[in-house]
Amino acid sequence: MLRYSKVFVFLLCLWPLYSIIYQIFYNKLGAEPVDKIINHFGEWTLIFIFLTLSISPLKKITNSTIWIKYRRMLGLFVFFYASIHLLSYVGLDYRFDFQPIINDVLKKKFVFIGFAAWLLLIPLAITSSNKMMRILKHNWKKIHRLIYIIGVFGVLHFVWLSKTIFFKPLIFLVILIILLLFRINFKKSSSKI
Ligand code: HEM
Repeated sequence: MLRYSKVFVFLLCLWPLYSIIYQIFYNKLGAEPVDKIINHFGEWTLIFIFLTLSISPLKKITNSTIWIKYRRMLGLFVFFYASIHLLSYVGLDYRFDFQPIINDVLKKKFVFIGFAAWLLLIPLAITSSNKMMRILKHNWKKIHRLIYIIGVFGVLHFVWLSKTIFFKPLIFLVILIILLLFRINFKKSSSKI
Protein backbone atom coordinates (compact mmCIF):
# COMPACT_ATOMS: atom_id res chain seq x y z
CA MET A 1 0.00 0.00 0.00
CA LEU A 2 2.78 2.40 1.01
CA ARG A 3 4.64 1.58 -2.22
CA TYR A 4 1.60 2.55 -4.30
CA SER A 5 1.08 5.74 -2.33
CA LYS A 6 4.75 6.63 -2.86
CA VAL A 7 4.40 6.07 -6.61
CA PHE A 8 1.27 8.24 -6.56
CA VAL A 9 3.02 11.05 -4.65
CA PHE A 10 6.02 10.76 -7.00
CA LEU A 11 3.81 11.18 -10.08
CA LEU A 12 2.02 14.08 -8.40
CA CYS A 13 5.37 15.76 -7.69
CA LEU A 14 6.04 15.73 -11.43
CA TRP A 15 3.07 18.06 -11.98
CA PRO A 16 5.26 21.18 -12.57
CA LEU A 17 7.02 19.27 -15.33
CA TYR A 18 3.79 18.10 -17.04
CA SER A 19 2.36 21.57 -16.81
CA ILE A 20 5.36 23.28 -18.47
CA ILE A 21 5.52 20.60 -21.19
CA TYR A 22 1.83 21.25 -21.88
CA GLN A 23 2.43 25.02 -22.07
CA ILE A 24 5.40 24.55 -24.43
CA PHE A 25 3.49 22.11 -26.62
CA TYR A 26 0.36 24.28 -26.88
CA ASN A 27 2.28 27.57 -27.17
CA LYS A 28 0.94 28.97 -23.92
CA LEU A 29 4.14 30.45 -22.50
CA GLY A 30 3.25 34.03 -23.49
CA ALA A 31 5.45 36.86 -24.72
CA GLU A 32 8.48 35.96 -22.57
CA PRO A 33 8.73 32.18 -22.64
CA VAL A 34 12.23 31.96 -21.13
CA ASP A 35 11.27 34.11 -18.12
CA LYS A 36 8.09 32.09 -17.75
CA ILE A 37 10.03 28.80 -17.61
CA ILE A 38 12.66 30.16 -15.17
CA ASN A 39 10.01 31.64 -12.88
CA HIS A 40 7.81 28.53 -13.06
CA PHE A 41 10.60 26.30 -11.75
CA GLY A 42 11.75 28.93 -9.22
CA GLU A 43 8.28 29.10 -7.71
CA TRP A 44 7.89 25.33 -7.63
CA THR A 45 11.29 24.99 -5.91
CA LEU A 46 10.00 27.23 -3.13
CA ILE A 47 6.72 25.32 -2.94
CA PHE A 48 8.62 22.04 -2.54
CA ILE A 49 10.82 23.60 0.16
CA PHE A 50 7.63 24.53 2.02
CA LEU A 51 6.14 21.06 1.54
CA THR A 52 9.33 19.54 2.96
CA LEU A 53 9.24 21.96 5.92
CA SER A 54 5.56 21.11 6.54
CA ILE A 55 6.26 17.46 7.31
CA SER A 56 7.31 17.96 10.97
CA PRO A 57 4.33 20.23 11.80
CA LEU A 58 2.00 17.73 10.08
CA LYS A 59 3.48 14.90 12.12
CA LYS A 60 2.85 16.80 15.35
CA ILE A 61 -0.60 18.08 14.43
CA THR A 62 -1.95 14.74 13.19
CA ASN A 63 0.03 12.65 15.68
CA SER A 64 1.02 10.38 12.81
CA THR A 65 4.45 9.48 11.44
CA ILE A 66 3.11 8.59 7.99
CA TRP A 67 4.23 11.97 6.59
CA ILE A 68 7.90 11.23 7.33
CA LYS A 69 7.85 8.56 4.61
CA TYR A 70 7.45 11.23 1.94
CA ARG A 71 9.96 13.75 3.29
CA ARG A 72 13.02 12.43 1.45
CA MET A 73 11.18 12.34 -1.85
CA LEU A 74 9.96 15.91 -1.39
CA GLY A 75 13.47 17.05 -0.45
CA LEU A 76 14.93 15.46 -3.56
CA PHE A 77 12.28 17.19 -5.65
CA VAL A 78 13.48 20.50 -4.16
CA PHE A 79 16.93 19.77 -5.54
CA PHE A 80 15.48 18.55 -8.84
CA TYR A 81 13.40 21.67 -9.48
CA ALA A 82 16.10 24.05 -8.20
CA SER A 83 18.54 22.42 -10.65
CA ILE A 84 16.11 22.74 -13.59
CA HIS A 85 15.52 26.38 -12.54
CA LEU A 86 19.29 27.00 -12.53
CA LEU A 87 19.76 25.09 -15.78
CA SER A 88 17.02 27.07 -17.56
CA TYR A 89 18.66 30.31 -16.44
CA VAL A 90 22.14 29.16 -17.53
CA GLY A 91 21.00 27.45 -20.74
CA LEU A 92 17.97 29.40 -21.96
CA ASP A 93 18.76 32.88 -20.67
CA TYR A 94 22.54 32.88 -21.26
CA ARG A 95 23.06 29.95 -23.67
CA PHE A 96 25.79 28.59 -21.38
CA ASP A 97 27.88 31.77 -21.67
CA PHE A 98 29.44 31.60 -18.20
CA GLN A 99 31.12 35.04 -17.96
CA PRO A 100 27.85 37.07 -17.68
CA ILE A 101 26.49 34.41 -15.32
CA ILE A 102 29.49 34.80 -13.00
CA ASN A 103 28.99 38.60 -13.20
CA ASP A 104 25.32 38.16 -12.26
CA VAL A 105 26.20 35.96 -9.28
CA LEU A 106 28.76 38.49 -8.06
CA LYS A 107 26.83 41.68 -8.80
CA LYS A 108 23.14 40.90 -8.29
CA LYS A 109 22.37 40.02 -4.70
CA PHE A 110 19.22 38.08 -5.63
CA VAL A 111 21.22 35.80 -7.98
CA PHE A 112 23.96 35.44 -5.37
CA ILE A 113 21.57 34.29 -2.66
CA GLY A 114 19.69 31.99 -5.06
CA PHE A 115 22.97 30.41 -6.05
CA ALA A 116 23.98 30.06 -2.38
CA ALA A 117 20.66 28.29 -1.71
CA TRP A 118 21.30 25.88 -4.57
CA LEU A 119 24.85 25.16 -3.32
CA LEU A 120 23.47 24.39 0.15
CA LEU A 121 21.06 21.90 -1.40
CA ILE A 122 23.95 19.78 -2.74
CA PRO A 123 25.05 18.28 0.64
CA LEU A 124 21.41 17.54 1.44
CA ALA A 125 20.91 15.67 -1.83
CA ILE A 126 24.21 13.76 -1.45
CA THR A 127 23.45 12.69 2.13
CA SER A 128 19.79 11.82 1.58
CA SER A 129 20.24 8.02 1.51
CA ASN A 130 19.75 5.63 4.46
CA LYS A 131 23.40 4.64 4.15
CA MET A 132 24.56 8.25 4.60
CA MET A 133 22.14 8.61 7.51
CA ARG A 134 23.83 5.66 9.25
CA ILE A 135 27.34 6.93 8.48
CA LEU A 136 26.70 10.50 9.64
CA LYS A 137 24.63 9.55 12.74
CA HIS A 138 23.61 12.70 14.69
CA ASN A 139 25.47 14.95 12.23
CA TRP A 140 22.92 13.97 9.60
CA LYS A 141 20.21 15.93 11.42
CA LYS A 142 22.50 18.93 11.74
CA ILE A 143 23.24 18.92 8.00
CA HIS A 144 19.57 18.55 7.11
CA ARG A 145 18.62 21.55 9.23
CA LEU A 146 20.15 23.53 6.35
CA ILE A 147 16.73 23.29 4.71
CA TYR A 148 15.55 26.13 7.00
CA ILE A 149 18.39 28.37 5.82
CA ILE A 150 17.69 27.35 2.22
CA GLY A 151 14.04 28.35 2.76
CA VAL A 152 15.10 31.77 4.09
CA PHE A 153 17.56 32.26 1.19
CA GLY A 154 14.92 31.18 -1.34
CA VAL A 155 12.36 33.68 -0.04
CA LEU A 156 14.97 36.47 0.15
CA HIS A 157 15.90 35.65 -3.46
CA PHE A 158 12.24 36.07 -4.47
CA VAL A 159 11.75 39.28 -2.44
CA TRP A 160 14.94 40.87 -3.80
CA LEU A 161 14.21 40.04 -7.44
CA SER A 162 10.64 41.39 -7.30
CA LYS A 163 10.96 45.08 -7.94
CA THR A 164 7.29 45.83 -8.59
CA ILE A 165 4.89 42.98 -7.87
CA PHE A 166 5.43 42.34 -4.18
CA PHE A 167 2.25 40.38 -3.47
CA LYS A 168 3.45 36.86 -4.31
CA PRO A 169 6.83 37.06 -2.53
CA LEU A 170 4.99 38.46 0.48
CA ILE A 171 2.70 35.42 0.57
CA PHE A 172 5.77 33.15 0.40
CA LEU A 173 7.42 35.17 3.18
CA VAL A 174 4.36 34.78 5.44
CA ILE A 175 4.24 31.00 4.82
CA LEU A 176 7.95 30.73 5.65
CA ILE A 177 7.51 32.70 8.88
CA ILE A 178 4.62 30.41 9.92
CA LEU A 179 6.75 27.31 9.23
CA LEU A 180 9.71 28.76 11.15
CA LEU A 181 7.44 29.63 14.09
CA PHE A 182 6.20 26.03 14.13
CA ARG A 183 9.80 24.87 14.26
CA ILE A 184 10.65 27.21 17.19
CA ASN A 185 7.49 26.17 19.09
CA PHE A 186 8.15 22.46 18.64
CA LYS A 187 11.73 22.87 19.75
CA LYS A 188 10.56 24.70 22.90
CA SER A 189 7.90 22.11 23.76
CA SER A 190 10.25 19.15 23.18
CA SER A 191 12.94 20.72 25.39
CA LYS A 192 10.34 21.08 28.20
CA ILE A 193 9.67 17.31 28.20
C1 HEM B 1 16.75 27.05 -3.74
C2 HEM B 1 17.08 27.75 -4.80
C3 HEM B 1 16.16 28.73 -5.51
C4 HEM B 1 14.87 29.09 -5.27
C5 HEM B 1 13.95 28.61 -4.16
C6 HEM B 1 14.50 30.05 -6.28
C7 HEM B 1 13.25 30.65 -6.39
C8 HEM B 1 12.91 31.58 -7.35
C9 HEM B 1 11.63 32.21 -7.46
C10 HEM B 1 10.46 31.95 -6.51
C11 HEM B 1 11.66 33.03 -8.53
C12 HEM B 1 10.58 33.97 -9.00
C13 HEM B 1 9.41 33.34 -9.63
C14 HEM B 1 8.38 34.35 -10.07
O1 HEM B 1 8.70 35.51 -10.30
O2 HEM B 1 7.22 33.96 -10.18
C15 HEM B 1 12.98 32.93 -9.11
C16 HEM B 1 13.39 33.62 -10.22
C17 HEM B 1 14.68 33.63 -10.68
N1 HEM B 1 15.72 32.93 -10.15
FE1 HEM B 1 15.66 31.61 -8.65
N2 HEM B 1 15.58 30.28 -7.10
C18 HEM B 1 16.61 29.48 -6.66
C19 HEM B 1 17.87 29.39 -7.20
C20 HEM B 1 18.32 30.17 -8.24
C21 HEM B 1 19.64 30.08 -8.80
C22 HEM B 1 20.71 29.07 -8.38
C23 HEM B 1 19.70 31.02 -9.80
C24 HEM B 1 20.85 31.36 -10.67
C25 HEM B 1 22.09 31.28 -10.36
C26 HEM B 1 18.43 31.69 -9.86
C27 HEM B 1 18.09 32.72 -10.72
C28 HEM B 1 16.84 33.22 -10.90
C29 HEM B 1 16.49 34.16 -11.94
C30 HEM B 1 17.44 34.76 -12.98
C31 HEM B 1 15.13 34.40 -11.82
C32 HEM B 1 14.26 35.27 -12.71
C33 HEM B 1 14.35 36.72 -12.34
C34 HEM B 1 13.55 37.56 -13.29
O3 HEM B 1 12.35 37.34 -13.44
O4 HEM B 1 14.15 38.44 -13.87
N3 HEM B 1 17.61 31.14 -8.90
N4 HEM B 1 13.72 32.03 -8.38
